[in-house]
Amino acid sequence: MALKTSSPLVLMAILLISSIATTTHAFNITRLLDGFPEFSSFNGYLTQTELFRQINHRKTITVLAVDNDAIGALSGRPLDAIQRILSNHVILDYYDQIKLEGLKRRSTIVTTMFQATGIAQQMQGFLNVSKTDGNIYFGSAMKGASQDSKLVKYVAAQPFDISIIQISSPIIAPGIDVTNPDLVRPPPPPPKKSPAGSKSPAEAPVADAPMAKDPFVAPVADAPVADGPAADAPGKSSPEPVAADTVTPSSGTRAFLSTGVAVVMVLIMSLLSA
Ligand SMILES: *[C@@H]1O[C@H](CO)[C@@H](O)[C@H](O)[C@H]1NC(C)=O
Ligand SMILES: *[C@@H]1O[C@H](CO)[C@@H](O)[C@H](O)[C@H]1NC(C)=O
Repeated sequence: MALKTSSPLVLMAILLISSIATTTHAFNITRLLDGFPEFSSFNGYLTQTELFRQINHRKTITVLAVDNDAIGALSGRPLDAIQRILSNHVILDYYDQIKLEGLKRRSTIVTTMFQATGIAQQMQGFLNVSKTDGNIYFGSAMKGASQDSKLVKYVAAQPFDISIIQISSPIIAPGIDVTNPDLVRPPPPPPKKSPAGSKSPAEAPVADAPMAKDPFVAPVADAPVADGPAADAPGKSSPEPVAADTVTPSSGTRAFLSTGVAVVMVLIMSLLSA
């Protein structure tokens, strides 16, 4: 068999590849951005929100960074809202200049780390990458969201692990900055006590108007409710563990699988050459 003569080489190659697969995806987003003082605020937010941990756990990602001037659009927002917004700036795929300029379609939908949290509503966890007049724009894939954050420059890349791209303004998906328990739990059933509609005219418009127009507008309209500490807690605590759960096992599983595959191959090869 041809396999017999080449099997030691094949074995070595398999072992080498599997050991590389378990060790390569190492990057440190904090250190990468440290080299660019114009992104120090963005970098600071990644540290404060602890998003850097999730980012460093990933492989094959693209980080959309905004500079210290543009990030002002986020100031004054609660940290958990900033966390959700910035997790939507991490695309779960590698896009560098070659790949973006090579995109054939006028617009492409990409998945972000916010989608992996499990709390994204509708298309909140996706971005729309579009090309107009030779420029590349990024925007939320939510219906009607503005598509005006322009690609400024390619900042850094470690093919094909991480690419950092500067965009002109933060992308804020409609509803993403609102801390609302409705985002993680199904909305409560409608009140039973107002069948005639005449009972509480003051209540009716608040509860009904946003729901009737667009189910997604509801969380925005409910904002005052979400300001309370009770509403704050679930929003603050849940994204982190959910995201950690989706990240850690997947890379652990990947390493485990590649080691397992290598072991099985070794067994097969030794059986073949015996
Ligand atoms: C990542 O880089 C930052 C800044 O250089 C450093 O403080 C931190 O310890 C690094 N983390 C790891 C895991 O190496
Ligand atoms: C993506 O953006 C382009 C350009 O603004 C727009 O034509 C297209 O409808 C958008 N697609 C989605 C799904 O939002």
